[in-house]
Amino acid sequence: MSAGSGGRSGTVSARAFPKLTLALAVLGLRDDGYHDLEALTVSIGQPHDAMEVTPHDEPGVSLELVPDDPEVPVGDDNLVVRAARELLGRAGLVDRVGVGIALTKRIPSGAGLGGGSADGAATLVAVRAALGLDVDDATLIDIAADLGSDVPFCLHGGAARMTGRGERLERVDLPLGIPFLLAVPEFRCSTPEVYAAWDELGGPRSTRVVPAPAMLDGVVRELVNDLEPAAELVEPGLAEFRARLEVAAGAPAILAGSGSAYAVPIDDPKSLPDRAAEASERLGTEVIPVATISRGVRISGRTT
Ligand code: C5P
Repeated sequence: MSAGSGGRSGTVSARAFPKLTLALAVLGLRDDGYHDLEALTVSIGQPHDAMEVTPHDEPGVSLELVPDDPEVPVGDDNLVVRAARELLGRAGLVDRVGVGIALTKRIPSGAGLGGGSADGAATLVAVRAALGLDVDDATLIDIAADLGSDVPFCLHGGAARMTGRGERLERVDLPLGIPFLLAVPEFRCSTPEVYAAWDELGGPRSTRVVPAPAMLDGVVRELVNDLEPAAELVEPGLAEFRARLEVAAGAPAILAGSGSAYAVPIDDPKSLPDRAAEASERLGTEVIPVATISRGVRISGRTT
């Protein structure tokens, strides 16, 4: 990230990348209703959302989905709209300029991949660039933490240890290109419901551990997700989907965040495309080859 130097640059295109939680320990329920956690989280390159931000002279923030999707609300509750409004407010420009945002969504929502959070983070970076706002990185991080627990990580990107409710980050040095197979079932999981189920179950530790891929050597030996028993309570179809995926992939799978996506760690990056094609055919559901990348948001183009 770099602070805007002032002056509009025209339409800015950005990519918003998903996050994958490799190890997630839930430590307990807090007084504010959130849960303290400790997690190792990485950015992955696929599937990514794409965004175009165009400045205009009329105040206001408009969001359009490309292609249109009536299932996704584009009003005041959308993280993209909230992020843009808050940023314009902090820059003292809310009554003076506006932005039109076109968003192409490819990260499935309710999959535990932080799609909405990634869009919120991309909005902060792209709106700042499009309007040339003189707002520093610390302010973006501050806005991100208010928007949601995962938005700071999406802004940070790469690999990080997350603590607090997820907003406290410590960079972790990991090689890029760590490969996984990613599969998303038809059904989706609600994050608040999964955390509530974790409370109802009395705060379980997950007993399912998956050996970490070779490229994570020295960082973490096992992948484990304490939200997995809770997610399986909320969505009973998860366990069966995982079992079928593990047979199709020939290796164990770990739940992504609060679900419903699963990731299968792979040791050999070169075998990833073939493993994904084979697993897709056996599972009868698309299995996506993904790998870790260094960024959560990337500016991909500008017009002046
Ligand atoms: O922070 P965010 O709005 O993304 O969180 C969505 C919901 O997930 C929260 O309202 C809360 O129910 C749950 N959550 C939690 N503990 C966290 C993160 C999220 O309980 N650390």
